[in-house]
Amino acid sequence: MADEVTDLLKKAYQDELETVMNYLSNSIVLDGVHAEEVKESLQEDIQEELGHAEMIGNRLKQLDAHPPGSAEFEANQMDLQPPEDSTDVVSVIEGVLSAEEDAIETYRNLVHLAEEADDPVTEDLAVTILADEEAHRTEFRGFNKEYPRD
Ligand SMILES: [Fe+2]
Ligand SMILES: [Fe+2]
Repeated sequence: MADEVTDLLKKAYQDELETVMNYLSNSIVLDGVHAEEVKESLQEDIQEELGHAEMIGNRLKQLDAHPPGSAEFEANQMDLQPPEDSTDVVSVIEGVLSAEEDAIETYRNLVHLAEEADDPVTEDLAVTILADEEAHRTEFRGFNKEYPRD
C-alpha cells in the first residue's frame, strides 16, 4: 500500500515536469494578438507546476524514497506538443485542458490511495495540489469558451 503511494508520487512528479516542459515550449512558441493572455497564463502556471514537483519530491524524501531523474522519464503528453502552426492557440488550450484533466485524475487517485494507506500528510498534499489543478482547468475552460475560432 505504501509502495503504491510512492509509485504514484513518482508518476505525479514526472507528469509535473513534463507539464513544465510543454507549458514552457508553448508559452514561447505561440504567436498572434490573441495568444498573449494564454502565454501569460502558461508562464504563471509553469511556476506553480514546478512548485508541485518540488513538494512531491520533498514528500518522497520524507517517505524514504526519492524523486526520479531523467533516465526514468517517459513522455505521455502527445496532445500538448507545440503546434506546427504557431498561431494555433486552440490546440494548445485543448492540450492544456487534457493535461489538467490527467493531473486531476492522478491527484484524486492519490487522495484515495493515501487515505487507504493511512498517510494523512500525503493525502493533504494531494488535496492541496488537486485544488490548484482544478483552478488551472477553470482558467483554460474560460479561454476555451472565449477563444475565436474561424
Ligand atoms: Fe501541477
Ligand atoms: Fe496544472
